[in-house]
Amino acid sequence: THQQDLAGKKILVSAGPTVEAIDPVRFLSNRSSGKMGYAVAQAAADRGAEVTLISGPTALAQPTNLKMIPIRSARELQEQLEENFDANDFVIMAAAVADYHVKEVADQKIKKHGRDVVELELVANPDILAALGQKKTHQRLVGFAAETQNLLANGAKKLAEKNLDMLVLNDVSRSDIGFNAADNEVRLLRPQEEPKLIEKTSKAQIAQEILDELLKLA
Ligand code: PMT
Repeated sequence: THQQDLAGKKILVSAGPTVEAIDPVRFLSNRSSGKMGYAVAQAAADRGAEVTLISGPTALAQPTNLKMIPIRSARELQEQLEENFDANDFVIMAAAVADYHVKEVADQKIKKHGRDVVELELVANPDILAALGQKKTHQRLVGFAAETQNLLANGAKKLAEKNLDMLVLNDVSRSDIGFNAADNEVRLLRPQEEPKLIEKTSKAQIAQEILDELLKLA
């Protein structure tokens, strides 16, 4: 049993990868398994929050006691986030969003036609979180950052540029934490505060500690 310290709070969580279609049978995506975001959503629901989980395709079992909205592309993720934004108190953006989508999605399977080299033209996706950061009113906004180098500097930049209340900084250069791992180790960054290290532990435990910090922002 858990303390119901998030009772009465509405929390919107995004998780997993986005998937950008190339043609009817191919896509561009990334290595996010959804484990981190699902852990946050499940922990928040267990602590009494009313949770909406917007998720890209994952192999995970659906968490209980929450509303699930499946999406594939970054564009679909943005539509669902915008639609649910006003009604929520906290938005936790753990999804690994594709930075680009394919400019022209082929409506039939692309044929080789003897070509050794083909080019895909990619167009930038909107920065969904930065847009939410611009329009937030009562909401507290939490971003994640997946970095392979200059962690603290890159994290601090995203915290400020996206107008976030907290950023969860992930080192995805390590295989024992980050993408798809059972465990994680993160730094929590907040404006005007020293980064707080949460040492390597299960994603379930990391989720609880993120929510503990979130409650202090409420
Ligand atoms: O799913 P797992 O396998 O458990 O792995 C967890 C994780 C490593 C994927 C997760 O902890 C994580 O770090 N998620 C964020 C990945 C990411 O997209 O980071 P980023 O540094 O590219 O983006 C920073 C923030 O902006 C993120 O909150 C992201 O959701 C958001 N973003 C990014 C691009 C974009 N076009 N729109 C966005 O909203």
